[in-house]
Amino acid sequence: MTKKFITKSALGTKNLGKKIAQDFCIQKGAIILGLKGDLGAGKTTFVQGVAHGLEISDKILSPTFVILKKFKIFKSENKFQNFFHIDCYRIENPKEILDLGFKEIILDPKNIVIIEWPEKIKTILPEHTMFLNFKFVNINTREIKI
Ligand SMILES: Nc1ncnc2c1ncn2[C@@H]1O[C@H](COP(=O)(O)OP(=O)(O)OP(=O)(O)O)[C@@H](O)[C@H]1O
Ligand SMILES: [Mg+2]
Repeated sequence: MTKKFITKSALGTKNLGKKIAQDFCIQKGAIILGLKGDLGAGKTTFVQGVAHGLEISDKILSPTFVILKKFKIFKSENKFQNFFHIDCYRIENPKEILDLGFKEIILDPKNIVIIEWPEKIKTILPEHTMFLNFKFVNINTREIKI
């Protein structure tokens, strides 16, 4: 079942990410979200909101040359320990991600993994990956399907 959200500002998209972060619950492997959508559709903005929801104070940026960033989660009463932000935009071969320890990362139920441009590594994504679709509607409006 897909749900459709319309946000009217970057803050609105961040708040959606923050809200979704509250619903994460422990499962067999890592929580894995794949964020699909064009350049500027709001994927990184959403990731910033998730990080905020997890009380991560580090700045979440669009990693230009960094493919993978790891953040510690210190939030109390939280079952998760690590937050991974992966941006596959520049990936040419899924092996580049495997070389960064992807298999181990996604096996650990204490990890939350959010991937921008997941299409680039679809051959190595596990079945339980949850996909979100971001769409640019107009300058300040985005549609997000979950
Ligand atoms: N409703 C909205 N939701 C999200 N971002 C918005 C919204 N309205 C305006 N924006 C702006 O759109 C831009 C979205 O950029 P963002 O880096 O999040 O996109 P992205 O999907 O990660 O792109 P890329 O594929 O290049 O990584 C930001 O500058 C943000 O301020
Ligand atoms: Mg981005």
